Formats: sequence, structure tokens, C-alpha cells
Amino acid sequence: MLKVINVVGARPNFMKVAPIVAAMRGRANEFAPLVVHTGQHYDAAMSDSFFRDLGMPQPDVYLNVGSGSHAAQTAAVMQRFEPVVAKEKPDWVLVVGDVNSTLACALVCAKLHIKVAHVEAGLRSRDREMPEEINRLLTDQISDLLLTPSMDTSENLRAEGIAETRIRFVGNVMVDSLLAHLSLSANSNIREDLGVAEKAYAVLTLHRPSNVDERETLARILDALEEISRSVPLIFPVHPRTRARLDEFSFAERIERNENLRLIEPLGYLDFLRLYSGAVIVLTDSGGLQEETTALGIPCLTLRENTERPVTVTKGTNIIVGTDTEKIVQSARRVLHSPRSNELRQVALASSLPPLWDGHTAPRILDALIAASI
Ligand code: UD1
Repeated sequence: MLKVINVVGARPNFMKVAPIVAAMRGRANEFAPLVVHTGQHYDAAMSDSFFRDLGMPQPDVYLNVGSGSHAAQTAAVMQRFEPVVAKEKPDWVLVVGDVNSTLACALVCAKLHIKVAHVEAGLRSRDREMPEEINRLLTDQISDLLLTPSMDTSENLRAEGIAETRIRFVGNVMVDSLLAHLSLSANSNIREDLGVAEKAYAVLTLHRPSNVDERETLARILDALEEISRSVPLIFPVHPRTRARLDEFSFAERIERNENLRLIEPLGYLDFLRLYSGAVIVLTDSGGLQEETTALGIPCLTLRENTERPVTVTKGTNIIVGTDTEKIVQSARRVLHSPRSNELRQVALASSLPPLWDGHTAPRILDALIAASI
């Protein structure tokens, strides 16, 4: 029997851990799972609604760290997680993704000689200005088992000299959640509530510090969005960080004047799935959404200069457009004005998703944990 602490901290962690914990509960003679929530994200809309939508058990332990500078947040998670690990003495701690909670918990375990499995290992943007890139590099260095979502990410680890025995290609666990909830999301009324029809609107998300914390960059992006919104209504669920910056830079009023650029509160998992799955195009700086749109064949423009998920470009629907106003507008126009070629692309994609994005990654993760424990 393996006792596993599964760590969640921030919004993008929940849909990765939910299928893993569900699979562990289904194999109760092999696994005793616990869920620890660091509290990095704590708002009802950023956290609670995901537990509900994903049918996840309430956390066994809640660390309540909240927001803070990178150092303060990472340190708070470490201080509060260490006694939990010391008390529970798990066989494994499983961390996912690249948020501050991921690195903090992995580091605690490395020092206590508790084995760490990192789900979504090997992603690299090669941009060390990105806090997540630091979290990825360091978490991979100190984890015992590196569970990769795509073959290129395994290659990244090999290129860094990581031993083959620590690397397991298991596929993309976020696709497990996506496929398991797709039909359920049809019960969401979000499109009706917003009065938008399938393929007649765009969805936008924006929260990267590099995009929203600098007035000029955010202004350039807003210029592009205003232009695009002349052709198609844009629905924009706003992350709390972005909401704060829009207020600080006095952009909120400018947006409110534009009826076709609609700011809404952050959505839960099912409502958001319903919303983006019906969009004609998605514009984002999120990592997960680049993958989710590829999995569903929805065209995606990534408002960043790079991606740690290149497979979404080579095998998917993702186009990296950066933050230049003209470039964003031109790329959006190309997608919006060629619906026929997009349809064909969607059909072609459905039969050629990246390998092991098949909805069965969680059981492979469990098998890898068992194999690595022998
Ligand atoms: C974090 C992750 C990022 C991930 C994102 C998803 C790191 C370094 N970054 O960024 O990789 O893509 O989550 O959302 O771990 N806030 C609230 N309520 C909340 C959470 C945050 O109001 O429930 C506000 C606070 O003002 C906080 C700010 O958002 O200071 C930023 O939160 P933080 O967790 O530091 O980083 P994110 O930008 O959310």
C-alpha cells in the first residue's frame, strides 16, 4: 500500500490532480491518497468551485498560505508543509505543474528524503524571466520520478543529463479531466447566460505578470483586443491579478465602454469548458489552455513570445503571436476569415492528437508510482 500526499496549490493544479486522486481511490488496496491544499489560490472562484466541478474530495490538510511575494509565498508553503510530511511520513509526495507550491513542496521533501513524483515534468520555455521556468527546472532536478506529458519533454530532461530511470512518458493528465467532463459541461448555461452562440464569439484569458503588470504591454494587448472585438464579441473571464491591474492603470472604464469586450468573473471548470469549447478562437497567455484548445481542435493565439508546450504548435492549433498589436490582430483575422480551413484542420486534428493525450494518463501515473516503488 502506497501512502501518497497529492499537493494542490493554484487553479491550474486542480484539474491535474483530480483524476489522479480519483484513480487512487479506485485502487484502494494499492493506494492511500491524501490531498494537501497549500492555499496559494483561495478565492471561491479560483479554488472551491473547482473541487465541486471536478468531484474532488475536500483537502485533508489546508495550509492557508495565501498571496505574497515569491519568496514569502514559497517560504510559507515550505514552513507549513514540512510538519505535515514529518507527521504523515508518506511513501510519495506528488506535485504537479510549475507553480510556487510545486517547487516549495518538492524542496521540503528532498531535504526530508521523501520521494517526489513530478507530474508535467520536462516542460521548458527556455525563458528564465518566467517564474514558472525556475520552478520547473528546480522541481525536475530534485524529484525522483519525472512523469512527462509529451515526448519532447522527456527529451528536454535527457538533454539536461537526467537519468533515464527517473523519466516516464505517461501523457497529458489534463486531457483525462477534459474528456471526463466534456459531456457534463453541456449542462452549463454559460453561453445562454451570456447570450452568445456557438462559433460566434472569442474567449480571452490574461494573467501573466509579464503581460498585465506593465502598463505599456497591457495597453498594446488592449489595442489589439479592441480591434478584434469589431469582428467578434470577446468574452474575458478576469483573473484577480489582471482585475487589479486594469483598475490600477485606469483601463477598466475604457473596456466598459466597449460592448463587445465583456469582462466577467473567473469561471468554474465546467462553465469555462463549455465556454471555450464553443469559441471560434481563443486568445490566451495561459499554459493549460494552449493544451486544452489543441485537444479540442479550437484555434488558439498565445499572447507570449514563447511556449513551454511546443507540441501544441507542431501538432495542435496553437500559434505564438507575442504582444505586438498588429501581429495579434493580423493572426486573429487570418483565423476568423478562414473558417473552412479551420474546420478541415479540426477534423484532421481529431485523428492526430499528441501521443497519449488519450484520457488514460492517471492510471499510467499510478502504474509508474508502483513500478518506481519496487
Ligand atoms: C499562479 C502561478 C501561475 C499560474 C496561475 C494560474 C506561480 C509563480 N504562478 O499565478 O503559474 O498560471 O497561478 O492562475 O505560482 N489572487 C486572489 N485570489 C486568489 C489567488 C490570487 O485575489 O485566490 C490575487 C492576489 O492579489 C495575488 C495575485 O492574484 O497576489 C497573484 O496570485 P499568485 O498565486 O501569486 O500568482 P498567479 O498570478 O495567480
